[in-house]
Amino acid sequence: MKIDILTLFPDMFTGVFQESILKKASERGLVSFRVTNFRDFADNKHRKVDDYPYGGGAGMVLMPQPLFDAVDHVKAQTASDARVILMTPQGERFTQKKAEELAKEEHLIFICGHYEGYDERIREHLATDEISIGDFVLTGGELAAMVIVDSVVRLLPGVLGNEASPVTDSFSTGLLEHPQYTRPADFRGMKVPDVLLSGNHARIETWRKKESLRRTLERRPDLLENYALNEVEKALLEEIKNEK
Ligand code: ADE
Repeated sequence: MKIDILTLFPDMFTGVFQESILKKASERGLVSFRVTNFRDFADNKHRKVDDYPYGGGAGMVLMPQPLFDAVDHVKAQTASDARVILMTPQGERFTQKKAEELAKEEHLIFICGHYEGYDERIREHLATDEISIGDFVLTGGELAAMVIVDSVVRLLPGVLGNEASPVTDSFSTGLLEHPQYTRPADFRGMKVPDVLLSGNHARIETWRKKESLRRTLERRPDLLENYALNEVEKALLEEIKNEK
């Protein structure tokens, strides 16, 4: 997968792409990152990328020319169609499902605006997707793009080892993940549930499913509304409700 970032603040990405899993993924050739300052594409002598809004009003608006040219430039370097993703609080809310969809693409281009709004022609004729990472406003799209890149790259085949399979992640299953414990079995009197030490795999699986349902019910009942419960899960949920 090729990932292009168009931003006015390229240095913001150095740490993120050069540490941990993202670094390993690019060293192993599973993904390549390129960060481009779209100011370099401004065709005016002051390298201006924004201007006052037509009709007046506060704030500046990102002009179409530098971004259209920057996207043309990075697109020309791959044969496949690219997704052009505009980071904006007005976009569709990012979810694990969207991460899975983007992970199937060969080329992603992220456009990060800073402070300013976007000229509407960028939204209508350049972007293929507009994404928000949540109902809050950031100073720019950079942090949002980092969040999305991180969640997409970890889904690419070969990026995570088997020990951290994305298949059982919270949200991928539609439920929150069950509680996890590691050694010691007794830490300052706080004990690991007996069932996990029992070696009985069927009982452990039932316990995990039940605790996953309990956690989802308590923390994210909205997820349960969209989840198709099987008969076993229905019975476990009944048990949980009767325990209260
Ligand atoms: N830019 C500013 N706020 C944002 C948000 N919540 N999501 C994506 N991009 C943004």
